[in-house]
This record gives sequence, structure tokens and C-alpha cells, in this order.
Amino acid sequence: MRRTLIAGNWKMNGDLVTNAALLQAVRAGAQAHSAELVVCVPAPYLAQTQAALESSSVAWGAQDMSAHEAGAYTGEVAGRMLKDFACRYVILGHSERRSMHGESSADVAKKTKQALAHGLTPIVCVGETLAEREAGSTSHVVQEQLQPVLSEVLDQLKHIVIAYEPVWAIGTGKTATPEMAQEVHALIRQQLAAADSAAANVVRILYGGSMKPDNAVDLLAMPDIDGGLIGGAALKAADFLAIAQASQP
Ligand code: 13P
Repeated sequence: MRRTLIAGNWKMNGDLVTNAALLQAVRAGAQAHSAELVVCVPAPYLAQTQAALESSSVAWGAQDMSAHEAGAYTGEVAGRMLKDFACRYVILGHSERRSMHGESSADVAKKTKQALAHGLTPIVCVGETLAEREAGSTSHVVQEQLQPVLSEVLDQLKHIVIAYEPVWAIGTGKTATPEMAQEVHALIRQQLAAADSAAANVVRILYGGSMKPDNAVDLLAMPDIDGGLIGGAALKAADFLAIAQASQP
């Protein structure tokens, strides 16, 4: 049985004042839900997030981390630093990092290994662009993105989370239909099974891309959709909690 995971990706949003209200509201509403909740905040707000969520049922995490241990990597944040602030999760390979920061799937695989070495749970993102979908290459693209990660951390696959985020659905209001998403999730699970059949049963595969309270019920009802990676709707406590509510059986 895979416990539903509802993860918020705040992206580059927030400030001390608005974060305080959002964190407080998520914390207060979290008790009512059986899903696991996590907020992935900008790195400068990890201390604030830790203080606000400590000893609550809500976990927190970061949106990226370095593939390196320490040293001359200006601007980078190390896994060890995320652990200092008690992060449980770290998003890796988000399409915005792939497209705007030139991250390759090999980079994402190295980061995944580094995250696991520090006891962090990586949320590894994959997903095709609109042009790739229209060209019929969705499954090929997603498999190519995931394969380096599977090879790099083959013996630790059960400790990762995967997020399928079709690029064309991110922040656009266009959501993959539950059937479209399920098809790709099932494919990802098959790929996992080919690498490690036991891990395939436990690894949670999240859907991301314009997930909102009104489409979450149908998406989360799909057999291979084990949660959501939520962008815009994670910035409103009521919407984020309503998505968690939508996952209740
Ligand atoms: P939106 O929910 O705003 O489409 O963002 C999805 C996403 O990129 C989460 O990582």
C-alpha cells in the first residue's frame, strides 16, 4: 500500500510574512488528512519552515541541491545543508531546472545519488514538452530521462519518489486527463519493475501540472497516481489542503 503524498512546490515565491501565514494554515489543517504532506520551499526559508512545522505532521524539503559534497560551487546548496534544517525531501530535475539551468538527466542522476547519501528522499521529475507529445515521443522521452537515475541508484530505488510532470501542463491550466496521466505512470512503473520489481510496488509516482482541488479527485483515483506535486495551488493553504482531502478514500 502506497501512502498518498501531496507535495507543494512553492517555486520562487513567498516572503517571511506570507510564508508564516501559509505554513501556519497548512499545519493547522494537516491533521485532518491521511495523506502525507510536504512543502518544498525556497532555500532561504528553510529555517522559518522548520520552526513553523517542527513536531507537526507536515514535512518540508528543498527544490534542488548540488551533486557535490562541498567546496567551490558558488550559489549551490549541499545535501548536508538541507539535512541541517531537517529536510526530508528534495525535488530534483524539475523541468524548469532542466530547461532554464541546463540540467541533464545525468546531472539529475548524480544529484539523486547525493540526496540518498544524505538520507534525503529525492522527488525526481520527468515529463515531455508539448512538441514531444505531439511527435508521439512521450514514452521515449520519459524513459530516457528516468533511465540514468535508475542505473545510478539501482540498489536504493525504493527510497525515491518520481513525479511525472508534462511540461505543457505546468502553470498553464491544462491538465493531462486522468487517463493520459495514468498511461505514463503505468509506463514508469513498468520501467521501475524491469529494474527492481519490489521497488516498483512501493515507489510513489506523483502527478504534477495544474493539479487543483477540482481535478485532483479524478487524477488521484488512478491506480498508478500516488499523489501530486503541486505548484500554484500550493500557495493557497485552502487549495493545498483541498487536494489532500481529494485523496481520501
Ligand atoms: P502548477 O501546479 O503551477 O502547474 O506547477 C506544477 C509544478 O511544476 C510542480 O512542480
